[in-house]
Amino acid sequence: MLREKRIGIIGVGNMGEAILRGLQDRGVAEGVVVSEIRPDRSDYIARTYRVEAIPDNQQLTSQVQIVILAVKPQEMEGVLREMSPALDSSKILISIVAGASTAAISSILQKDLRLIRAMPNIAALVLESATALSPGGDASAEDLEVAQAIFEALGTTVVLPEALMDAVTGMSASGPAYVSLFIEALADGGVRMGLPRRDALELAIQTVLGTAKLLLEQGEHPVKLKERVASPGGTTMAGIATLEASGFRGALIEAVTSATQRSKELAKM
Ligand SMILES: NC(=O)c1ccc[n+]([C@@H]2O[C@H](COP(=O)([O-])OP(=O)(O)OC[C@H]3O[C@@H](n4cnc5c(N)ncnc54)[C@H](OP(=O)(O)O)[C@@H]3O)[C@@H](O)[C@H]2O)c1
Repeated sequence: MLREKRIGIIGVGNMGEAILRGLQDRGVAEGVVVSEIRPDRSDYIARTYRVEAIPDNQQLTSQVQIVILAVKPQEMEGVLREMSPALDSSKILISIVAGASTAAISSILQKDLRLIRAMPNIAALVLESATALSPGGDASAEDLEVAQAIFEALGTTVVLPEALMDAVTGMSASGPAYVSLFIEALADGGVRMGLPRRDALELAIQTVLGTAKLLLEQGEHPVKLKERVASPGGTTMAGIATLEASGFRGALIEAVTSATQRSKELAKM
């Protein structure tokens, strides 16, 4: 599906590079062109991934069928205006810009477009992103399939109504920070109980990775897995009781709630 299409990526920072790497891993990066404002970064990307760099965003847009917008939110409007003369309904525009609704993009460009909004997370760097996609504007079911194919090269995807994108931002896009905090704290607990710091961190990271893999591969509900580990009167149940008394689950639910609120506030700004 992607092989016949020429893809352009505007902004090849953390996420833009991850998308490029994902496409290359899937063998569909042959026709990819990129635009990156910093010449040294642009040279690095072109050399490393053997892709053509087109510094002019209008020119890049005119040469592709799919444009992936991966610049920072504050850079988005200027870039959209540069692209605008070459942007029409023959192209699919996929934006990963946090907080920018498809309606906001359409109102900047003042035209009907085939728009898809995507919200990946930083694990895209290791091709393990959890990405939510929302079709907007005039995007068709086929356009959505194209976006799914791109982001499935970077991990897994779900399709959701755009109204839920702030919740996705507060949960799975911010999630790697919460999980990092959990890993750090788990390791600190180990250090407190006498484990060497390096070993504690390695054990904590692998514990999270292994648990996630178990849940994914065995398709088990987290409650069931918890019950398998926590035997009656045992050590794990003692630990869980302390977590519950400290409001562990409530804290996470509140974290997602406030991050979602913050995403809504930032989108208004
Ligand atoms: N990182 C995440 O976890 C994450 C998750 C979900 C969504 N996002 C969204 O993804 C987008 C990119 O994030 P990121 O972390 O990849 O940011 P980033 O590393 O700063 O990448 C953006 C890149 O775009 C370049 N750029 C700026 N203006 C440009 C222009 N006019 N033409 C071409 N390139 C231009 C920047 O160059 P300079 O550095 O020289 O400015 C930079 O290399 C953001 O909108 C963010 O909201 C990020």
